[in-house]
Amino acid sequence: MASAPSTAPSTPAYCNWNPEDASFPEQFAWGASTAAYQIEGGWDADGKGPSVWDTFTHQAGERVFENQTGDVACSSYTLWEEDLKCIKQLGLTHYRFSLSWSRLLPDGTTGFVNQKGVDYYNKVIDSLLDNSVTPMVTLYHFDLPQSLEDQGGWKSHATVEAFDAYAHFCFQTFGDRVQLWLTINEPYIVAELGYEQGTMAPGVKELGTGAYLSAHNMIKAHAAAWHTYDRVFRKQQGGLVSIALNSDWAEPFQPHSLADQEAVNRHIGFCLDWFATPIFLNGDYPVVMKSRISAMSKKQGYPSSRLPEFTEEEKMTIKGTADFFALNYYTTRKIKHQDYLDSQPSRAGDTEAEQVMDLSWPVATGSSWLAVVPWGLRNLLKYIKDTYNHPIIYITENGFSQSDPAPLDDSQRWEYFRLTLQEILKAIYIDGVRVKGYFVWSLLDNFEWTCGYSSRFGLFHVDYENPALPRVPYKSATEYAKVIANNRPVNSHE
Ligand code: GAL
Repeated sequence: MASAPSTAPSTPAYCNWNPEDASFPEQFAWGASTAAYQIEGGWDADGKGPSVWDTFTHQAGERVFENQTGDVACSSYTLWEEDLKCIKQLGLTHYRFSLSWSRLLPDGTTGFVNQKGVDYYNKVIDSLLDNSVTPMVTLYHFDLPQSLEDQGGWKSHATVEAFDAYAHFCFQTFGDRVQLWLTINEPYIVAELGYEQGTMAPGVKELGTGAYLSAHNMIKAHAAAWHTYDRVFRKQQGGLVSIALNSDWAEPFQPHSLADQEAVNRHIGFCLDWFATPIFLNGDYPVVMKSRISAMSKKQGYPSSRLPEFTEEEKMTIKGTADFFALNYYTTRKIKHQDYLDSQPSRAGDTEAEQVMDLSWPVATGSSWLAVVPWGLRNLLKYIKDTYNHPIIYITENGFSQSDPAPLDDSQRWEYFRLTLQEILKAIYIDGVRVKGYFVWSLLDNFEWTCGYSSRFGLFHVDYENPALPRVPYKSATEYAKVIANNRPVNSHE
């Protein structure tokens, strides 16, 4: 009989092991996540400055579904108590939310502090703690202050310094009560969609260079903030700082094709490893990125690689700047090798990897990209354990959307959650991965970026037609509350 790996928490031997009967480890963090621009509304209330998402959604054009905006969203800025009721109804142990940088610092700098913004987040943090809910705070979730974008945004080194000063301000202001920090949410998405393809704010389209340059500065900004915490606040506040990285899992389209297997490595290399290798391993980009981009740049007539380089000093500063691994997982792709023949440079072209959806996988009704593959999460967790020195991992986002109108009886969606939780149990007990928490995206239906309100990810339904914006639990909320109360998945017959 096989015994559990030594790294796994003690559990019955797993030869007959059934994840349906297993409990999560003690002290497991049960959470839900949101982001400021997606829920708060109050886009110019009480002295808030504009962010790139305010500008992006206010500009005419078909960039967002039906030209919708986050001006009101779920109005969490005025309805925080309603969100708190949802959190309590679920019995969450943790709540992840983001601070709106330009609500706190309207022009992005510490030159002027908007006290009303500070008051709002103090209220949120204090009431979470009063209800024994641990806050996990993201400093920046896609909504860069517009005034910083006007000076180059993430393409400029000035934003690295502004972010570090903002982080210092947040640690100083809220760090006596917040112990779990995330610097940046999904730098990959900001780089690829915000500065390369231009389909998300700030809408910069600079194929082949925009993503690499903006990512370069975000990695430096993250590292600077981590060091600020480490140097100035850690001793007194005792918290942890990381960065939320998103990644798909990937499988070769033809399992036995070496070319497809190598394309899988590039696909993950150019997404997760792009950020995780420098931050968790060696301060530098993955070898596969450096060699590939250098070769492609040469072919395209560039005098040097389109991928910027870190100095030796920067590498030393970046290496080891995360106290845990924060993973956002949604989907899996089949990957095919594809020769890139186009002379137009692009990050996607550099990967020479084509993404294919497996038609046998169900797709979430609210997001055409979201193939539902719960086992992909287990594989990704194992990959992170093996590649990044067995870190503590929080799954800081995972979820499934429904299209609007969304039924309150979302049994199908709950089935996806249930299967996902089973895969996490297998990762913990069979693979020995140190998963310490799971956060559903999202607490509430909200503004789903370019899909506006047409894609509903919430555990609670929000009726946008009703000015009171009532929050009503989906079946998934009721089921999730049972899981949390029992610290394990509950069978339908229980
Ligand atoms: C993530 C993002 C969230 C949310 C989610 C669902 O990429 O961090 O803000 O929109 O996707 O698409």
